Amino acid sequence: MKIASWFAVAVTATFLSGAAVAGAEDSLVDRLERGQKTFESTCSACHEIDKPLSKDMGRTEWEALLVQMTGRGADISGEDKALIVDYLTARFAFSSKCTVCHTKEQVYDREQTLADWEKTVAEMARKQPDLISDAEARVIIAYLTLVLGPAASSTGE
Ligand code: HEC
Ligand code: HEC
Repeated sequence: MKIASWFAVAVTATFLSGAAVAGAEDSLVDRLERGQKTFESTCSACHEIDKPLSKDMGRTEWEALLVQMTGRGADISGEDKALIVDYLTARFAFSSKCTVCHTKEQVYDREQTLADWEKTVAEMARKQPDLISDAEARVIIAYLTLVLGPAASSTGE
């Protein structure tokens, strides 16, 4: 599936830009947090944020949509575009892969640290081998730590 390769690219790019591998998990959470903030401030300028939040789309579709929004007058820098797309793609990895066997709501009941999300996601990935790649698992763990971690201020919904 194509999904695996674009996540591998995203995760690798994040690791290369991060200073040390030891802090890679944390820096991925930080990057998604910056993406979420940039998304919320940039994409609420002309319409409700619900318009993009109601769409379940992968990286390629988000990239195309941002080009479309630029055509409608959105002024978004290249770095901001990358942050927004990484955030929306991570959100989609979660909503597409973690709803195969149960609802999102079952997951939203929890508030856990990064270490605990690592355990939960590893456990879930084992239930259906080949569904969730390692690269996707890392992105999902970082996304869940952002929206359902100890410092979370929103549910990502
Ligand atoms: C300069 C104004 C502007 C900004 C900023 C903007 N949009 Fe839009 N967007 C529009 C207009 C105009 C439409 C089409 C009319 C409508 O659906 O309200 C639209 C429509 C949409 C749609 C519906 C498209 C469809 O085909 O259903 C989505 C999704 C969307 N925008 C996402 C975003 C995202 C994500 C961002 C931030 C990167 C963003 N928009 C920023 C102006 C903007
Ligand atoms: C292959 C099916 C399957 C997939 C895919 C799946 N889950 Fe689950 N999940 C389950 C089942 C079955 C349970 C019920 C409790 C158990 O067996 O652990 C569960 C329970 C849970 C619970 C509650 C755990 C508890 O102890 O009550 C959480 C949180 C959760 N899943 C999160 C996730 C996340 C996050 C993902 C995506 C990475 C995911 N699940 C993907 C099957 C799945």
